[in-house]
Amino acid sequence: MRQPPEAVAVRPARRGDLDRVIAIDAAVTGLPKRSYWLSVYRRYSGAGRVGRYFLVADSVGEVRGFIIGDVRDWEFGSPPCGWVFAIDVEPRFRVAGIGTRLLAAICANFRRAGVFKVRTILAHDNTLILSFFRSQGMMAAPFIPLEMDIEV
Ligand SMILES: CC(C)(COP(=O)(O)OP(=O)(O)OC[C@H]1O[C@@H](n2cnc3c(N)ncnc32)[C@H](O)[C@@H]1OP(=O)(O)O)[C@@H](O)C(=O)NCCC(=O)NCCS
Repeated sequence: MRQPPEAVAVRPARRGDLDRVIAIDAAVTGLPKRSYWLSVYRRYSGAGRVGRYFLVADSVGEVRGFIIGDVRDWEFGSPPCGWVFAIDVEPRFRVAGIGTRLLAAICANFRRAGVFKVRTILAHDNTLILSFFRSQGMMAAPFIPLEMDIEV
């Protein structure tokens, strides 16, 4: 089942990839979220989406994983940087270098867009994604996420 990463091409997502993206996400989260994914596709794919990247890992025409991110300018006072807000690899094709290929590809896009820092955010208890990002060289950032409930 495992394939060497060189058998995988990373390319921009197409409309026809969405069913596979939704299935991979649903396998991880348990929620299909079709309308959410259609909305993400409209916002992050196609011509004219400057600084927005929705990439898939394609192995002989089958989507094995995806990554989504964008360039954010002066958010929280920070100089423009790349943000990764979603990455998923189909469970049976993991630990074969696909996640590494996806992150490298989006970072290449960020570099071409003129930004040289990449950020992400993750749940405290998601040790898998933490191990992955640490393996790629990512470390704690000088920001603290905060939240509160808004009274109804
Ligand atoms: C994190 C994820 C993207 C990694 O994809 P992948 O294709 O398996 O990653 P790679 O094969 O490129 O692994 C790169 C490194 O990550 C680390 N890593 C990956 N899977 C790991 C695991 N199960 N345990 C420990 N470390 C792991 C290793 O250091 C690995 O390097 P190595 O193979 O030389 O040891 C994948 O596991 C995934 O989709 N997980 C669910 C993601 C998720 O929760 N998404 C929702 C929030 S956005």
